[in-house]
Order: sequence, then C-alpha cells, then structure tokens
Amino acid sequence: MRVVKKIALRETASDLASARFDAILEITDEGTTSKPDLAVSDSSSRNVGVDRRPSTAESEADTGRRQTRAQQRYRWARRGVAALVALAVVAGAAFAAIVWRPELAPVAPPTRAAFATQDIEKGAALAAIGNCDVCHTIPGGKFYAGGRALPTPFGTVYATNITPDPSTGIGRWSEEAFRRALRSGVARDGHHLYPVFPYDHFIDVNDEDARALYAFLMTRAPVEQAAHPNDLPFPLNWRPVLALWKAPPRFRARALATS
Ligand code: HEC
Repeated sequence: MRVVKKIALRETASDLASARFDAILEITDEGTTSKPDLAVSDSSSRNVGVDRRPSTAESEADTGRRQTRAQQRYRWARRGVAALVALAVVAGAAFAAIVWRPELAPVAPPTRAAFATQDIEKGAALAAIGNCDVCHTIPGGKFYAGGRALPTPFGTVYATNITPDPSTGIGRWSEEAFRRALRSGVARDGHHLYPVFPYDHFIDVNDEDARALYAFLMTRAPVEQAAHPNDLPFPLNWRPVLALWKAPPRFRARALATS
C-alpha cells in the first residue's frame, strides 16, 4: 500500500486577494504513507512539484461558491455604507434646518433723527417694565453696557452690551434683527442666544412695541465694552444646541408667526 499525496496549491483571484491558499490532498488507495510534497507557493517556485491545474470539478464549484459569497458580502457592505451616508446627509440636513438662521445685513448706526420722540419715550417705559436694565447694567456700571453675571444651574451667562456701539453693542443691528432677537433669541449674525435673555417671554411683543424698544436703545449713549465670555460646560457652550431647546412646535410656531 502506498499513499501518494499530491498537493495542488491553487490560487484563484479571490484567494489571492484574501491571501488564502488551498491545499487539496489527493489520496490514492495504494501504498504507505509518504511525506506530502509540500511545495511552497510563491511566484518563483510556481511550477516546482506543484500541480496548479484545477484538480477536480468539485473544487471548481467550491471556488465558485466562495466567490459568489464574497461578492454578496461586498454588495451588502456597499449598500450598508451607502445607507449610512444617506442617513448622515438626512440627519445633517434636518439639524441644519432646525439650527441655521441667516445673518441679517448690518446697517449704519441710525441717528436720533431716525426716531419719533414718542417712540423713544414709550420704549423707555417698556424697557422699565421688561427689566432690561436689571440684567444689562452692572450696578454702578455704564447704562446697558452689559457684563452682569447671571448664574444658572448650568453655569454662568453674562448679559451683553445692548448700547448702540457699532463694534461691541447693537449699533449695526437693523430693527428687523432686533425684533428677531427679542422674539426668537437669534442674534444679528444668526447665532442662537441663551434663554437667560428671556425672549421666550417676549414672543408676543408686537411690532410697535419692538420698534419703541429699539428706538429707546438706539438713542442711548454708545459704550465700547466687549461681552464677557460665558462660563458653561460642553455641550451647553455650543450655541447650536439651543435650537433644540427652541425646537418644540409650540415655541417655533409662535416665534415664527411674530418674528
Ligand atoms: C434676566 C436677564 C435679562 C433681561 C431681563 C433682559 N436680558 Fe437681554 N440678554 C440677557 C443675556 C444674558 C443676554 C446674552 C445672551 C447670550 O449671550 O446668548 C441678552 C442678550 C440680549 C440681546 C442680544 C444682544 C447681543 O449682543 O447678542 C438683546 C438685543 C437684548 N438682550 C435685549 C433685551 C431687552 C430689550 C430687554 C428688555 C425688554 C432685555 N434684553 C432683558 C439677559 C437679559
């Protein structure tokens, strides 16, 4: 009895790709065991003692099945990646639609002559009712120049400068930008404002009252004083998240109807 072991090292395109080599043993019924002819497969010893032809129809079918499975896996992987990309695009678009607000064009700071005296006087009364000065003026500090620290359970927010200073205040804000800030908490450049500024309570302020408040503030003495940075933890220090706080339809419908 002699056993002849013939080893065929076959490399198919897919086997090569996955660095897999198949050793197919053909065992005859005669003879004793002998050491298999284990030729190392590399490109230089390709034809040394190795039968590279497809040994049987069976192994060909096997290879075919493996290839089909690999192709299927590849197709599913591609679909998975495409689905993830589509999901990311949709989620990104939805987030942008909720968060993004346009910048409103800056204007030349309006002069006193641009406002009727009765509007300015009415604005003074409304500012007193709305307590604008309580937050926007540091005790003993410059009128409406901001800087007051307002502690919240989440951290400290500082009131900003709402004097008509063109660089550090609201001097370049149009009346429309002011109205939008008052009713929906969005600054002129489009960033969301913290609700420490109680704009959710000003949603129903009408156009005339907003104009009066604007007239009053824009005729105050401009003070150059940059805003104090807020002291909030992540992610609350990232303003876009504020849009999610405002997202409930109740808030949105009213804010959009009046802004
Ligand atoms: C409870 C405190 C508080 C009151 C009351 C308040 N504000 Fe403010 N306001 C703030 C804070 C804090 C900010 C800054 C918010 C931010 O940085 O996101 C702010 C921001 C603003 C801004 C945006 C300014 C900018 O530079 O982005 C305007 C405009 C404004 N307030 C107007 C008013 C007016 C008008 C009133 C009164 C009707 C008023 N505020 C009452 C706290 C207050």
